Amino acid sequence: MKVKLRRFTGREFVTTEYEVETGENPTVLEILTKIKEELDPSLSFRAMCRASVCGTCAVKVNGEHRLACNTRVNGEEVLIEPVDGYIPIKDLVVSHEEIYDGLRRARVWFVPREENLTITPQELNKTSRAWDCILCGICNNVCPPLLEKRDFGGPSLFTKIYRILEDPRDSLGEERLNGLTALNAQNCVHCSNCNLFCPKGCMPERWITVIEGKLTQKGYIQKKTEDFGFLGF
Ligand code: SF4
Ligand code: SF4
Ligand code: FES
Repeated sequence: MKVKLRRFTGREFVTTEYEVETGENPTVLEILTKIKEELDPSLSFRAMCRASVCGTCAVKVNGEHRLACNTRVNGEEVLIEPVDGYIPIKDLVVSHEEIYDGLRRARVWFVPREENLTITPQELNKTSRAWDCILCGICNNVCPPLLEKRDFGGPSLFTKIYRILEDPRDSLGEERLNGLTALNAQNCVHCSNCNLFCPKGCMPERWITVIEGKLTQKGYIQKKTEDFGFLGF
């Protein structure tokens, strides 16, 4: 298989080509590993678990954002590139600092109540999809308002927040909700790209809609009503 790699050198992007002997339907991660082990040890990419769990291996495969470890390819040629939305560091590796920074700024961690509350299976079920988020950042890379302007929290951050917001054991309640105003949930254009490309089926847009509704109801934000021109992403 002919493999084209768009790599960041530290100054610019270059495309290099490799002829790789693969088995049938290899994963993108298998291809990258083979290139590194047999053809070009200088190649840098991120991966750890090889099982869609660690969230580190997102790349673009033939123009679409995917996890390298769970994306199989066939055919004679494949193009692998770094993701669009984050600062490139080397080859296919991009900085994830912005993701972690967002989590820190929005205080996305559980602050338990003093009393020992239990949670029902029904309450847990409400957030089970959001719990599956592996912070791969793919949803952020296909989110038009986030790519255009960084004043929107973005789908991965809202997915993480939703889990805690709906948990009766969290003590921050109203204070947590009020703190979300700066993330501009109303900037979501509900294009559903995040739902479509999330490799774990987390449905970020659904949770943003819920959070937007809560914030609107409390008067913290005003729902946008204008037409958006970039839905055909
Ligand atoms: S639905 Fe909202 S959060 Fe998801 S990609 Fe579209 S604009 Fe971004
Ligand atoms: S919501 Fe999905 S696409 Fe977004 S970071 Fe989490 S796992 Fe990745
Ligand atoms: S290597 Fe961990 S998610 Fe792909």
